[in-house]
Amino acid sequence: MANSAVNGRTLAILGGTGKEGAGLAMRWALQGYDVIIGSRALDKATTRADEMNDEMGQDLLRGMSNSDAAAAADIVILSVPYAAHEATLNSVRSACQGKIVVDLTVPLQPPEIMAVNLPAGRSAALEAQALLGDGATVVAAFQNVSAVKLKQLDKPVDCDVLVCADQNDAKGEVIKLVEAAGMRGIDAGVLKNAVAAEALTPVLLHINRSYRVQGAGIRITGLDS
Ligand SMILES: NC(=O)c1ccc[n+]([C@@H]2O[C@H](COP(=O)([O-])OP(=O)(O)OC[C@H]3O[C@@H](n4cnc5c(N)ncnc54)[C@H](OP(=O)(O)O)[C@@H]3O)[C@@H](O)[C@H]2O)c1
Repeated sequence: MANSAVNGRTLAILGGTGKEGAGLAMRWALQGYDVIIGSRALDKATTRADEMNDEMGQDLLRGMSNSDAAAAADIVILSVPYAAHEATLNSVRSACQGKIVVDLTVPLQPPEIMAVNLPAGRSAALEAQALLGDGATVVAAFQNVSAVKLKQLDKPVDCDVLVCADQNDAKGEVIKLVEAAGMRGIDAGVLKNAVAAEALTPVLLHINRSYRVQGAGIRITGLDS
């Protein structure tokens, strides 16, 4: 088991038992990151980590409770539905102090998942920063990346990832994580701009249905590379 961080970073994916987090976890683990799968239930975390290790054919992931995972990590990734956003953040608030917290939450309001929902705090990422306080640095990313595409581990994901944060160092760290997961990370400005990325996902979900595809994504044109 890879308990030492080959890339100098231990990543905890809260809700890594689910669709989006699992694909990212396996991609990062295969690139040498030390990745912990977090769950509300320890046994679910360890079971899912074992299943993903079987899928990769390597013993790379381990499971922990969300709070233990957040405490053990250098970078915390929040990958839960919006309905669980506030409760999950409150449960790991102290463990996240001094850390980067990558929020990929889209504030969907089922069953209207193809319509933009602006939450009370204007965006999930801004709500996360308010809940965690200034001691944590929230970076918004990955809201427009299809879990279906992430699971195809042998392929790069054909999309760009908008990365928003108020601290450039933290944004740079997360852009490296985007690249490690097989995509191009785009500096998309301050955390407030996360509202744009969060609002794009219902549009992509509509496009998926209209064009009968599973993983529509976005590309930024006009850049050199
Ligand atoms: N799926 C996609 O294609 C996609 C794409 C872009 C962004 N996203 C965003 O990524 C986040 C995760 O999406 P997902 O599709 O991976 O979600 P998911 O599979 O439905 O859920 C992820 C994990 O969240 C935890 N969870 C679920 N309901 C919960 C609740 N009521 N309270 C507390 N924890 C709960 C569960 O973990 P435990 O039971 O183990 O605690 C679950 O395995 C969402 O915010 C979504 O908007 C998803």
